[in-house]
Amino acid sequence: MKELIARSLKYQQGVVSVLDQYLLPHQEVWHECRTVAEMAELILTLKVRGAPLIGLAATLLVAYLAEQGADKAALAQAIDELEATRPTAVNLMHCMGKLRGALQATDFASQVVATAEMLFEEDIALCERMANLGAELVKQGDNILTHCNTGALATAGIGTALGVIHQAHAAGKDIHVWVDETRPLLQGGRLTAYELACWDIPYTLICDNMAASLMAAGKVDKIFVGADRIAANGDFANKVGTYNLAVLAKHHNIPFYVVAPVTTLDVVCPNGKAIPIEERNPLEVTGVSGSFGSCQWAPQNAKVFNPAFDVTPAELVMGWVLDTGVYDQHAVAQGALLHVS
Ligand code: MRU
Repeated sequence: MKELIARSLKYQQGVVSVLDQYLLPHQEVWHECRTVAEMAELILTLKVRGAPLIGLAATLLVAYLAEQGADKAALAQAIDELEATRPTAVNLMHCMGKLRGALQATDFASQVVATAEMLFEEDIALCERMANLGAELVKQGDNILTHCNTGALATAGIGTALGVIHQAHAAGKDIHVWVDETRPLLQGGRLTAYELACWDIPYTLICDNMAASLMAAGKVDKIFVGADRIAANGDFANKVGTYNLAVLAKHHNIPFYVVAPVTTLDVVCPNGKAIPIEERNPLEVTGVSGSFGSCQWAPQNAKVFNPAFDVTPAELVMGWVLDTGVYDQHAVAQGALLHVS
């Protein structure tokens, strides 16, 4: 396989490595990964995270195993096991589906490698396209609110919603970003704040429950978020807390955009009710952990509900920014997403 290098994932000198997103921003630790069990653990613990990146990291591992001479059965099992790690982000299923297709070939090892290279490079191009399209929606001086982390850390390219913000800033628009900290795992506070600081884009970190009063005060002009799965009718799953923002945006008449590549579309899924939502460990809610150690503040055995994602209904979205174009309510209601490829 050729060298493939992204911000938090690389294949270099014959080794797959990932940047540990759980330790950022205080420690930059790369993990080398050689087995399915290692990659599954990295994904499950969110050291590797973000819809496109999860799919690509799993893909590079399968391609690495193919290069190491794994047979068809072993590769098929690796694909199955990696696909089962996280249920909501459909990019993982998209990538594993492509690899299953490559496994059908007689020269399956070289086809798996070629598919992995294609998926990685394609993601870079998809990010670039949707970021440029989304940046056109941004006006000089906009205050943009975003949730979770959707930047270069979460993709092979420049990112999805955060890619839009990056391109708007690069185009010279004088913007400011409100960063939702994104409880429980703080992808906003840990990662988005870090990426914006690296890119020199002005931002202010807020707790998730502060967004409403900012909107009421007229301090939010637009909201851009990413997606983990977009259903055929435009409903989409994204990091829990996204739906709250969409309801608030509707109430305050603030444009709410979702930004995602075609690899996040699941047109077989009719609507948001059919999207599987991952539930995670209660310890993520009863406390916090990271490079600084860990702390549990809730009472022992507190009962917890911890869905990693929520579903935003299409009716609350002003525009779907895909790499193929920006689709409005009317287009999506007419079935536009069914014809995107
Ligand atoms: O649980 P995570 O951190 O993998 O969730 C990530 C998100 O919800 C992102 O908003 C999503 O993947 C879109 S973009 C990269």
